[in-house]
Amino acid sequence: VMFDGMALPPFPPLINNAKKRFEDIRSLDCRQDDVLLVAYPKSGTHWIWEIVCMILKQKAEYSKEPKEFLFLEAMPDLDVVRNLPSPRPMNTHLPYRWLPTQHIENGGKIVHVLRNPKDVCVSIFHHAKVAPTVHGDVGDFQTFFKTRFMNPKVKLMGGWFKYEKEFEEAEKKDKRGAIFTVHYENLKKNPIHETRRLADFLNIDLRQEDIAEIVDKCSFQKLKQADETVKDQSVFKESGLPTTLINNLYRKGEIGDWKNHFTVAMNEQFDTVFKEEMRDSDIDIQFE
Ligand code: A3P
Repeated sequence: VMFDGMALPPFPPLINNAKKRFEDIRSLDCRQDDVLLVAYPKSGTHWIWEIVCMILKQKAEYSKEPKEFLFLEAMPDLDVVRNLPSPRPMNTHLPYRWLPTQHIENGGKIVHVLRNPKDVCVSIFHHAKVAPTVHGDVGDFQTFFKTRFMNPKVKLMGGWFKYEKEFEEAEKKDKRGAIFTVHYENLKKNPIHETRRLADFLNIDLRQEDIAEIVDKCSFQKLKQADETVKDQSVFKESGLPTTLINNLYRKGEIGDWKNHFTVAMNEQFDTVFKEEMRDSDIDIQFE
């Protein structure tokens, strides 16, 4: 599905009527203490979602709901989120210009996740590869890179560059400190410190041992296991999403897997595009 220059993820509400869902999200009634989690696909959304939920609950307890369900663009009906108790964490891959207007006017909190785009590209490839019924045949990694990730015509959510530049611009204008950006790489290398920063941003006072417990429960292995055992998977059967997609959320969880996928030529091509696209940007990406 294409909408507003973006190739969209295959969520049923977007397949049915993308325009309506986008507009419904933009005009959503928001509460002062809502927290929006915004990230380009495969940047670590589920991981940070789980951490943020635990911080808000002040308890290291997995949420039972399958998280896809809580994506504003994926949930069957926006009433799901309308009926949630406060504080509501809300997940979305929508670009900044489509976020709920009221949330922005409220100065509501936004947690933004940023990940090295080379690793994002690899992660999307593996995600798309297992679900040919919704993504089509993506071919091998080189083909995917050329015909999908770097192809302006079919860029997922309008492409990483545009998505992140738009966000950066908003962040620069944000005088109220409403936007908080977490780097996937920092969270991986220094989870205690980053989780503490997140809790501070959310104005939640947690003891050091609570932070440590949250970090432990949200480690890659434990989250992967919880995903298989704790989550209510039945909702997915109704959602129509292929189970291969759902079962492939926790793949590798490493920094730098791009080095196992990019050829030298692809890497050079990417770096050239990156330099050109990000020439006016201060976004700091750790490629190593
Ligand atoms: P990989 O495909 O590189 O393994 P999203 O949640 O936005 O769809 O992002 C998925 C990516 O985040 C996957 O990357 C997944 O493995 C990784 N991920 C999920 N949980 C993680 C964790 N606890 N630690 C590190 N990476 C994690």
